[in-house]
Amino acid sequence: MDFDAAARRAKELHAEIDRHDHLYYVEDSPVISDTAYDALRQELERIEELFPVLATPDSPTMRVGAEPRSSLPGVDHLMPMLSLDSTTEPEAALEFDARLRKILEKETIQYTAEPKFDGLSVELVFRDGVLASASTRGNGTTGEDVTPNLRTIKSVPLRLRGRGLPALVSIRGETLMTLAGFRELNRRMTERGEGVFANPRNAAAGSLRQLDSRITASRPLAFYAYEIMTAEGAGLPASHSEELALLGGWGFLVDAHWQKCPGIGEAIRFHSNLAEARDSLPFEIDGVVIQVDSRRDRAAAGMKTRSPRWALALKFQPRREITTVEEIAVQVGRTGKLTPVALLRPVDVGGVTVSRATLHNAGEVARKDIRRGDMVRIERAGDVIPAVVERVPSGPAGEKRREKPFSMPSTCPVCGSAVEEEGANHYCTGGISCPMQLKRGMEHFASRDALDIEGLGEKNVELLVDHGLISDFADLFRLTRENLLGLERFADKSAENLLAAIEASKRKPLDKFIFALGIRNVGEHVARILAAKFGSIDRLAAATMDELTAVRDIGPEVAGSVSGFFGEERNMRVIREMSALGVVPAPPDSPAGPRPFEGRTFVFTGTLEKLTRAEAKRIVQDLGGGVSSSVGKNTGCVVAGADPGSKYDKAVKLGLDILTEDEFLRLAGRK
Ligand code: IVH
Repeated sequence: MDFDAAARRAKELHAEIDRHDHLYYVEDSPVISDTAYDALRQELERIEELFPVLATPDSPTMRVGAEPRSSLPGVDHLMPMLSLDSTTEPEAALEFDARLRKILEKETIQYTAEPKFDGLSVELVFRDGVLASASTRGNGTTGEDVTPNLRTIKSVPLRLRGRGLPALVSIRGETLMTLAGFRELNRRMTERGEGVFANPRNAAAGSLRQLDSRITASRPLAFYAYEIMTAEGAGLPASHSEELALLGGWGFLVDAHWQKCPGIGEAIRFHSNLAEARDSLPFEIDGVVIQVDSRRDRAAAGMKTRSPRWALALKFQPRREITTVEEIAVQVGRTGKLTPVALLRPVDVGGVTVSRATLHNAGEVARKDIRRGDMVRIERAGDVIPAVVERVPSGPAGEKRREKPFSMPSTCPVCGSAVEEEGANHYCTGGISCPMQLKRGMEHFASRDALDIEGLGEKNVELLVDHGLISDFADLFRLTRENLLGLERFADKSAENLLAAIEASKRKPLDKFIFALGIRNVGEHVARILAAKFGSIDRLAAATMDELTAVRDIGPEVAGSVSGFFGEERNMRVIREMSALGVVPAPPDSPAGPRPFEGRTFVFTGTLEKLTRAEAKRIVQDLGGGVSSSVGKNTGCVVAGADPGSKYDKAVKLGLDILTEDEFLRLAGRK
């Protein structure tokens, strides 16, 4: 291949890979298989090996991370990164509004309200549309250069999309870690015996401020954009709401929760609604940012020294509290792992009473030096189990009277089997002969996100195990009416219901079944990937380490757990027995119901009112159809919401079927 051809192809590949990264990481709707994606990347890597000058900073191959540096260099921000006035009192928001109405001489002011992300504020500079530098906030004037690190975050566009781009633009946003990512990272770190992060914010900061960007690349970070700080060579939008839309158009991830608020009352309502929804968001937020929408009004309101007069952070109640450790108990999980748990004097943390907090493992207890009787600071993040952040020293007298340091028991507190140390963790060696492991495993098997067997919660599992009716998963499918009626909690009706629920669980989707097995390191996400890739339990059980690690998003650790699980004869026996008892999970591409959308591809454009994009996609897929992001000859049908984009025009030109959202719902039998 000559240089010109290579350069042309590299350019095409950049655009193509960027598009798929965006579809995968920002829109959550990939349109090609992992194998096809990997092939594109490999082709680009080969070209860049031949012609290294083509490995430009905006190449998708730059997302892997580079050799470590000695310390992060400083960098001056294009514009000072201001801070926000903040309050937790809605009354202060009313005063803020009163001041502004006076200055602007207006009856009511148009605000925008949006989540205040609890992450790390970052400035990104794009020159001619290409990411040129990234820096942390630092002291507001000078920050740390984290350019190579930011490049590894897949939701950061390396090149802005669209036309008429400014020659120079500075974007502000927040780098954060989702709660699921945080949980998973801490799990991995505990597994390896490394210290855990106290909260997602620390985890994001620690991951971003790495000298070795390869470490950053391995961390589940996301970047949410919320402000264009300055732009040269193009006008700025007239309002913040238009600015957010523009950021989305340029390819940034913009959180969808923002809202226009006519008047401060709406903004305060937004704050209290979001406070309610806080625990169900995928990431941590610590309040709401309320800002004047119009740029002209902002200019008229002006600035103070370090913060604008036109913006206010209305924060939520903090989720950290201090309390006393009454006892350190040891809990046995479904994998046999022993977890030290601090039993606390109950305390209200942001509206929830907390009486226990995880201490992760023995190493963590020692590192934090937590003992019975200590005062500790605890923190609750989203729906994550509360954690002990640190010990709060209690003065010279108290320090002298502290109890002995904690140590792990040498036998399982439940079944008395020997305890084994594996890396940083301790495990009960009893397997399912340990009643606690069996019970936890059964509860997980039957839980809502696994096989969803109604009526098989903690109490009934306890009863069935204690009466010796089940000692592994297969026994569940051998239960009879007589078995159940012999137990105090069951009558005719409840026994019948439970048996029916067990019967129905035999044909649940394969990913649910894989998740239900409780394989170490296999959460719902990994289970879905494995189900899609291997299609049946037999094929998954037969997969080699090489085949497993070849799957996108599956690392050696997960692959090791999967192959270890199926390599164990005891597990294979139970799986064979279940299959003989009629447990046949539905393969991923043949959901149980009818498939009226089979072979049809849907494209969505514009804003849907009743559905999110993800819900719409799910409906199409459940009915056997596919979803694409671009309109072509093979598009079966275009669904147009409000303000449809160019896809709509193209669909008209091609003479395709165009449906409204309501028509789509009717077609899908949802109306
Ligand atoms: S707007 C003029 N919007 O909260 C300041 N800030 O001191 C413009 N933050 O570290 C900032 N989420 O970076 C804005 N949606 C959001 C935000 C947000 C988080 C950060 C900000 C700063 C802190 C406030």
